[in-house]
Amino acid sequence: MGMERQYSCVMVTGASSGLGEEFAKQLAGRTTRMVLVARRVERMDRIAEGIRTAHQGIEVMVLAADLADSAAREALKEKTEGAGFHPDLLINNAGLGDYGEFVTAEWNTLEAMLKVNIEALTHLSHLFAPGMAKRGRGAILNVSSLASTLPIPDFAVYAATKAYVSSFSEALRIELAESGVDVMHLCPGPVKTEFGEVSRRKGDSEGMPAHALFYVPKEQVVGEAIAGLNSGKSRVFPGLKIAAAGLLIGAIPLVALRLVLGFRPRR
Ligand SMILES: NC(=O)c1ccc[n+]([C@@H]2O[C@H](COP(=O)([O-])OP(=O)(O)OC[C@H]3O[C@@H](n4cnc5c(N)ncnc54)[C@H](OP(=O)(O)O)[C@@H]3O)[C@@H](O)[C@H]2O)c1
Repeated sequence: MGMERQYSCVMVTGASSGLGEEFAKQLAGRTTRMVLVARRVERMDRIAEGIRTAHQGIEVMVLAADLADSAAREALKEKTEGAGFHPDLLINNAGLGDYGEFVTAEWNTLEAMLKVNIEALTHLSHLFAPGMAKRGRGAILNVSSLASTLPIPDFAVYAATKAYVSSFSEALRIELAESGVDVMHLCPGPVKTEFGEVSRRKGDSEGMPAHALFYVPKEQVVGEAIAGLNSGKSRVFPGLKIAAAGLLIGAIPLVALRLVLGFRPRR
């Protein structure tokens, strides 16, 4: 489609695997510069090489950063600006989950979740949105989750971090509308990435109960996200079944949801 948006610089967080890697691959043909951010540099170097080979002339910068660390987030802005890279599309995708009871959770994991899923996403938006607004164009794509739409026992903190992401994105979208900066959030259901393994606690044999019927391929999730961004959508639930689930959950009052959620799948 000729109307597809072009970018001068796309920054993707959590670009070393899963949805982030897929965003980098699918957006490489629509930008002249790209910044990949995560902790695992070797993986990003390999992804960057693949992109440079497939898209002659593209400049790809790989930046190692632990997004839980606020100084590392500030350094990202210094390093990109120092190289003349000014992201006009920021994809806040890095995130992690922790599946299991709240009382037995490791604080380090809960803290990492709050810092990466909430703090880093907010901080990077705060670091890069002003430049976009000043230039009068840009977009922020925040990766939320279907889990943002309801409280989930045994996934309580994760679901709450994503509720933050969706709420923040909807409000920021309205604030930035007049300055020509678009904000969208993506709410995927289950997707086969490293997320399931990262979310599974050590010694826990069972992972998250997700029905095979609900998995949506990462290529489709990212494809629908980019299409949604192109058409100015505020929120995208990728995949028909997930879209239906999103609509349905939104229509159920909390009193009824409480009854359903009372049947904890772990019990
Ligand atoms: N997969 C699903 O079922 C699903 C469903 C709904 C929403 N989501 C959301 O989709 C997003 C991407 O997840 P995914 O499914 O692609 O999982 P993934 O394969 O585990 O990828 C997560 C990415 O986040 C990065 N990351 C984690 N902690 C980080 C930190 N402290 N600093 C920098 N980067 C960090 C990881 O890179 P390093 O480890 O190299 O740092 C990795 O690149 C997340 O926000 C997740 O909540 C996933």
